[in-house]
Formats: sequence, structure tokens, C-alpha cells
Amino acid sequence: MRRLLVATLATALTLAGTALPAQAAPAPGGAGLGDEYFPDYGNSGYDVSHYDVRLRYYPEQDRLTGTTTILAAATQDLSSFHLDFVLDVASVKVNNRPATFAREGDHELVVTPPRAVTRGQAMTVVVQYSGVPSNKVAAGFTAWTRTADGGLAVGEPEMAWWWFPSNDHPSDKATFDVSVAVPDGVEVLSNGVMPRNPTQDILGWKRWSWRSVKPQATYLAFLAIGQYEITRDTAADGQQVINAYSDLLPPDFEDAARASVERTAEVIDWESSVFGPYAFEARGGVVAPPGALGFALETQTRPVYSSGFFRSGANMSVIVHENAHQWFGDAVSVDQWKEIWLNEGFASYAEWLWSEAQGEGTAQEIFDYLYATEPDDFWTVAPAEPGAAEIFGGAVYDRGAMTLHELRRAIGDDDFFALLRTWTAEKRYGNADTAEFIALAEKVSGQQLDELFQAWLYTPSKPAVEGASALAR
Ligand code: ARG
Ligand code: ZN
Repeated sequence: MRRLLVATLATALTLAGTALPAQAAPAPGGAGLGDEYFPDYGNSGYDVSHYDVRLRYYPEQDRLTGTTTILAAATQDLSSFHLDFVLDVASVKVNNRPATFAREGDHELVVTPPRAVTRGQAMTVVVQYSGVPSNKVAAGFTAWTRTADGGLAVGEPEMAWWWFPSNDHPSDKATFDVSVAVPDGVEVLSNGVMPRNPTQDILGWKRWSWRSVKPQATYLAFLAIGQYEITRDTAADGQQVINAYSDLLPPDFEDAARASVERTAEVIDWESSVFGPYAFEARGGVVAPPGALGFALETQTRPVYSSGFFRSGANMSVIVHENAHQWFGDAVSVDQWKEIWLNEGFASYAEWLWSEAQGEGTAQEIFDYLYATEPDDFWTVAPAEPGAAEIFGGAVYDRGAMTLHELRRAIGDDDFFALLRTWTAEKRYGNADTAEFIALAEKVSGQQLDELFQAWLYTPSKPAVEGASALAR
């Protein structure tokens, strides 16, 4: 952004002094998007509208080969630009012409097209590549998970680098086509709908195709490759419901997983009644092989779950949480990673609301319990300023949810639920930040709420609570 302003100013100055329009010199795009916690995640100088990721995967070698085609528009006159990527690049073309490319740092690919791209111009970027993603270390680790029968690309905030070149930041959302050829008998899951059934590829191989048609953050794109049992259904509104269960799940895990994931369409209907219309075109869930993942992720239209969530029976909380993220995180996305409580605090509060709706304990009871039992060090992290190391810490989830509960008590149920629905309606398919949420809360309620948000979101100590204090001490 700053670079653009300077260039514009330079152009204006030059114009003032000469008769002929002068061209601002094209400048390199940057290696980041100004994210306060992750300054080199994403890249500046262009805006992606679509990724076409076309791969082949060899499960025995954990080897990926393929091509990603990126449709983008330059947001400045660009002499070169960055992609975030770690696999081995064979060639890059920009607008049909071979470009040169070089590595920088541990996840940057710098692409120099033979001629500069002008501001506003469409760019078609074709990257051919291959590699063993589980061998690539970046940011100190490997986000790709190799399983006994395939692999998983499921992670936050880092994941895309290991399977497709991208502008890897939630502030640049795009639509996706993902297709992967695999040996017969192997399944491939990704986001959105299957526009067609798997097609014959080379002898003994099938190609699977997935399409996600609403703006999607790069970290919400996923791949699950391996032996999966797939269930298909049609929701009341006609949407494809596609769930998948790893064949490696022990039978008792599989029953508990199904008793949870098969209720996804019901959960989304309930969440729609609380948060407003569902923003996406499909529903589902994927349960990973045992031991493969240590978490669940709200991958767009189809969350992926660690099998561990279903160890001791059905677990609706995790289904409610990951699908609530379809509103908070996926439809309305953070514009900076420091705003992550807008995802996790809201998805956690959805669990409380579900509990309340099921008659299993009210949100107030859950609040009181946490308020009374969280240890001192829990209160030292402010949810809206957690620090990069704490973006998935307890404060972001639990204190974030407690913040929403205190807001609900302050403005009342009518305004609180109207606020949630207005937020998702106004911001869906885009990005948002905490200041915008606070402003909307004040607008909807007509109340001055700075003190409440300051205490709950920005102060690294335990906020005082009125009323509930008897229980809490
Ligand atoms: N957004 C995910 C969830 O709430 C959390 C992912 C955490 N990722 C991680 N690598 N710890 O459920
Ligand atoms: Zn979450």
C-alpha cells in the first residue's frame, strides 16, 4: 500500500513538470501483506481471484506433481512478485510467457515476468512443480502430514506452502478448483462440491475433482488423500452433503465419529437459525486417520477432524465449533492473524449456545465455571492481542467466548443475536477486524461499550464481573 502511494505521488509530481504523461517505474511486489504477527505471510502487489490446482499424488513416495494456475490482478505496476511456496518449481509462466524465478527465505518464490505487469492488468500465472511435501521444512516445521495410506494438507495458519503456490494470507480470498489423480482405490477429499464423479486417468489411476465457488482463504483449502469411506446425502435445501471416514479408524471410533459427523447438516440448520444464512454451497466433514492430526480445522464447507475427538463417544461440540467457523472465520475472515478471537471466541461461544439449546448447561453456567476456575496465568493474555505464539491459546478461545457472553448480558438477547446476524450479513465473503465488530455492537445496541471491550479483549488481567461474582469467588 505504501509503495503504491509513493508511486502515485511520484507520477503526479512528474506530470506537473512535463507535458507528456510519465510512467511510474514498475516496482517489485513485497514479501508480505503487513500482517503484524506474520509479516512475510502473503505478498503485496496483486490480488488473486482463482486457483486451479491440478495434481498427481503417488502415495508410496508421498510425492506430488502438478500445475497450479492462478488468476490475479496487479494492484501496482509490478516488475516482479512473490508467491508463498516450498515445493520444487520446474517452470513459471506469466501471461503465457516464461518467467524467471528464484527462492528467497524459506517459503518465498520470487517471479520476474519478461515484461512488467501494469496496475489493474490481469495476470495468469502457471506454476509447474513437484516434490515430497513431508520432506520440506519451513517456519521450523512441516505442515503436510504423511499418513499410512496417503497425506493430509490441513493446517492453520501455515499449510498452502506445501501443496500449491499462493498469496497465503486470509485477506486475499479466492475461489478454487482442485483436482488430484491417484491410484485406483485411493480417495481424495477437498472443499466444496464434486462437479463430477472421479474420471479415468492413465491406466490404474482416477482423477478426483472438487470445486469451491465462494471466496475462500488459502488456509481453508484442504486435501485429504487415502482410504476413506465416503457417505453422500442431500440436505433439505438440496446441497451436497459429503462426509468421509478414514478406513484406518477402529470400529468403535468410527461409530462415534459417524454419530457426530452425520449430524452436520442438522448442526448447520441450527446455526443458520442463530447466525443467519449459511454462506456456502456444500456441507460435510472428514475424519482423519488415527494419530494423523492433533486438532480439527474449519476447512471451508467441510471441516477435518482428528479421530481423537471421537475417542469416547459422539462429540457434538467439535462439530458445532468447526461448523460455526463457516460463519466466523470462513465467510467472515480475519484481516490480520491477531484478530483470531473473531474466529475462535465466536466458534467457542457457539458451543455454549448449543449446550444451552440442548438443555445441557446454560452459557451463564459455563461462563461462571470458567470465571471461577481459570488459573491466574490464563488472565494474563488479552484475547484481541494474544501475541503470535498464543493465537490458539486458551484466552483466544475461552476468554473470547466469555467476552461475547458479557456483551450478551450487557445488550440483551435481542440485540446480541441481531448483532451476530448483522455481522455475518454485512461481512460475509470478506474480511473484518475487531474495531469493526465493536462499532457494529455499539450501533446495534445504541450503547457505549468501550469499557466492556477494553476490559475483556485488551487488558491482560481478570476483568471484574457484576452479578455473577458470588459464584465466581
Ligand atoms: N481453527 C482450529 C480450531 O479451532 C484450530 C487449529 C489449530 N491449529 C494448530 N496447529 N494448533 O479448531
Ligand atoms: Zn476453532
